[in-house]
Amino acid sequence: MKTLNGKWALVTGSSRGIGQQIAKALAQQGCNVIVHGRQLDHTHTTLNEVKEFGVQALAVAGELDSELQVRELISEVQRLSVPVDILYNNAAINNQSTPMFEFSQAEWLRTFQVNLFATVQLCNAFAPAMRERRWGRIINLTSGIAGQPDLAPYSASKAAVDKYTQDLACELKDDNVLVNHVDPGWIRTDLGGPNAWEDVASVIPGVLVPALLPDGGPSGRFYAAQDYKGLWG
Ligand SMILES: NC(=O)c1ccc[n+]([C@@H]2O[C@H](COP(=O)([O-])OP(=O)(O)OC[C@H]3O[C@@H](n4cnc5c(N)ncnc54)[C@H](OP(=O)(O)O)[C@@H]3O)[C@@H](O)[C@H]2O)c1
Repeated sequence: MKTLNGKWALVTGSSRGIGQQIAKALAQQGCNVIVHGRQLDHTHTTLNEVKEFGVQALAVAGELDSELQVRELISEVQRLSVPVDILYNNAAINNQSTPMFEFSQAEWLRTFQVNLFATVQLCNAFAPAMRERRWGRIINLTSGIAGQPDLAPYSASKAAVDKYTQDLACELKDDNVLVNHVDPGWIRTDLGGPNAWEDVASVIPGVLVPALLPDGGPSGRFYAAQDYKGLWG
């Protein structure tokens, strides 16, 4: 029996890039997947690839760049009437390289909205039901980015995600809801750019490790996906 047989995972930003890899790898483990992109037609490729593993797959669409739109996305997921057992907060935006003192307030706010506040809203929506069912896995995508002040809003938003992950793990420590964060490495995606060190496939199996943890496993822990590179051949 596959470890995640019958579970449902919501993977934000799974229409492409690292999220797409996560969605397919979860499906390979028997997990049903809710695929997300900003528009429904962006999700088609992932949706079809996930279904090839014989699991159920559904799609939702929506922007994460305002509280209202995140609320609408949450309602859309709730209307599917399936439990969110595993939540990957994967969708994020990066910044255009900008001199440190020239980032606009709007850019700071938008970056924190998509990368942190949407994550908080999604956790607020789905973690209480995980707690009630006494089973859940929340995985927040973070970044090892360092020494790049020209990307300060992105970098600071990921630092905030790290701290939030630890606080949420503490809140859920007695409920078998494991909350962890994972750095995929520097990956050639639209966000990572063409000069990144690693191919997108290299994030597997590392990004999956926090979803596969046994009951009572680590929570509030940082994982580096590249530590596991090549382990699945
Ligand atoms: N790539 C790297 O080198 C790297 C390094 C460290 C950490 N990470 C983290 O890994 C995660 C995935 O990154 P990636 O490289 O796979 O990114 P990506 O290739 O740019 O994909 C971004 C995904 O997020 C969705 N998305 C983008 N903006 C959105 C918005 N405003 N509202 C809702 N959804 C939105 C996109 O949907 P559409 O397709 O519909 O646009 C897409 O599915 C992020 O959290 C990132 O910070 C990446």
